[in-house]
Amino acid sequence: MDYDKLLEKVRCVDASRGMKEGLQMICDILESSVEHYDWVGFYIAEKEELVLGPYSGAPTDHTSITFGKGVCGQVALSKEEMVVQDVSSEDNYLSCSIHVRSEAVIPLLKEGELIAELDIDSHSKFAFTSDDMEFLRAVRDHASTFF
Ligand code: SME
Repeated sequence: MDYDKLLEKVRCVDASRGMKEGLQMICDILESSVEHYDWVGFYIAEKEELVLGPYSGAPTDHTSITFGKGVCGQVALSKEEMVVQDVSSEDNYLSCSIHVRSEAVIPLLKEGELIAELDIDSHSKFAFTSDDMEFLRAVRDHASTFF
């Protein structure tokens, strides 16, 4: 995967589109371009809850997640990215689908406060390499300009 090229495509989605449409386009680009990204979405922080925003992939029951619950909720508290390379080994995990094997969650912060999270699910174990994480951090940085 040529992440440099893909990042150029993501950066072409500019903030003039508005948050909802812009984030949706970013989800669609990632989910359709990277084979091992099977669900790509944003959760928006509202008080102590993460509310599901734009996403690409199968619908999820987890439309609202309390801080502390699951991988996303842990990231909301720590404000640090989290990669779970094998979800069966994570006790504090909310399953979206039986097919998901690994997950990466990257926080979006503004002035140190959590504003949103970028969440990627994969149907493969050990899907996220250091190249993936570098790419996803750059996607997160661009997505932050929509807030
Ligand atoms: N697996 C996540 C829940 C969100 S879904 O992956 C879309 C978690 O444990 O927080």
